[in-house]
Amino acid sequence: MTVVTDVADLQALARRRVPKMFYQYADTGSWTQSTYRENEAALQRQKLRQRVARNIDNRSLKTTMVGQEVSMPVALAPVGLTGMQHADGEILAAQAAEEFGVPFTLSTMSVCSIEDVAENTKNPFWFQLYVMRDRGFSENLMQRATNAGCSALVLTLDLQVLGQRHQDIKNGLSTPPKPKPGVLIDLAFKPRWCWNMLQTKRHQFGNIHGHVSGVEDMTSLAEWTNSQFDPTLDWSSVEWVKKHWNRKLILKGINDVEDARIAADLGADAIVVSNHGGRQLDGALASYDVLADIVDAVGDKIEVHFDGGIRSGQDIFKAVATGAHSTYIGRAFIYGLGAMGKAGVTKVLEIMRKELDVTMGLCGETDITKVGRHNLVL
Ligand code: FNR
Repeated sequence: MTVVTDVADLQALARRRVPKMFYQYADTGSWTQSTYRENEAALQRQKLRQRVARNIDNRSLKTTMVGQEVSMPVALAPVGLTGMQHADGEILAAQAAEEFGVPFTLSTMSVCSIEDVAENTKNPFWFQLYVMRDRGFSENLMQRATNAGCSALVLTLDLQVLGQRHQDIKNGLSTPPKPKPGVLIDLAFKPRWCWNMLQTKRHQFGNIHGHVSGVEDMTSLAEWTNSQFDPTLDWSSVEWVKKHWNRKLILKGINDVEDARIAADLGADAIVVSNHGGRQLDGALASYDVLADIVDAVGDKIEVHFDGGIRSGQDIFKAVATGAHSTYIGRAFIYGLGAMGKAGVTKVLEIMRKELDVTMGLCGETDITKVGRHNLVL
């Protein structure tokens, strides 16, 4: 029996339990994967200032994200096909996040639909939007998210075309899907995953399936979806979104100071410094390596959020100390989900909370909102 002490333990379990095709979909980046690796490496390079003999008895990790109270500065990032890591994955992750007091963000490319998640949770969650070529469809998605009570829209800007992910192509996770002959053998070694999948009817892109006429089977669904990412998206598309969404708006996928300035001037509630977890432009800077400059440029105008490479509470601390208002985790919660379903997501959040709390204390701080660059070795 593995004793789970950190996210890497859950990752190892997920690798054993999730079919290779879906595990590798999550655990890879685009092209040479250099940005994917750099995201983690950049955080690891940052050193912390150890402080002693300060009373650190009462510590608080509480803060806010776009005005919403959160138990620690973390949200679950939007992750497509979460429901393929574990049956009903989006619902389970949303429930775990809700119980923990952190936001869950549902991807446009989710398996469980907006309505599925709303029916199975009590509090508002967040919805991530890809602007599609079919603007009527995007408008309809925003309406559905409004009806479901979603309190924030995370508009992703860094996927106008899909970054090529070699491992997905090798695994047949392509458009149309071309499963490899070894898939059935692999599934024979993943009985827990198969059993759970047999218990649910949610196997498609739930936000799309049944909402576009003529798109019924898996192949047409994949083809339609793939053809819908919109290369014409520009800053005027953000204005267009704002006309159809009157709750909190978060712009995700900013990895450049000039873009951050433009985004801040558009009057959104927050930006997410992100390179899509190294899944889009391979060769782009690690998101942690641009964070400080972006905070310095726009941090007084807009809330700056951060994601990319966070695998521990220490990583969260480093991002917050650098100036991020809060963070998102992608793969970390996905590993927990693949390993142990909802309990695994809860476990990841518990691990991160503990690591963040101890790190903050050993840096001599008691309040996460007071953490800053003075805690870093610069
Ligand atoms: C993502 N990400 C993502 N982002 C988004 O806006 N919409 C999406 O549908 C997806 N889908 C997706 C799938 C998978 C498998 C991964 C790993 C990531 C990016 C995600 O929101 C986030 O930016 C990164 O995951 C952050 O990096 P880490 O925490 O995974 O290192």
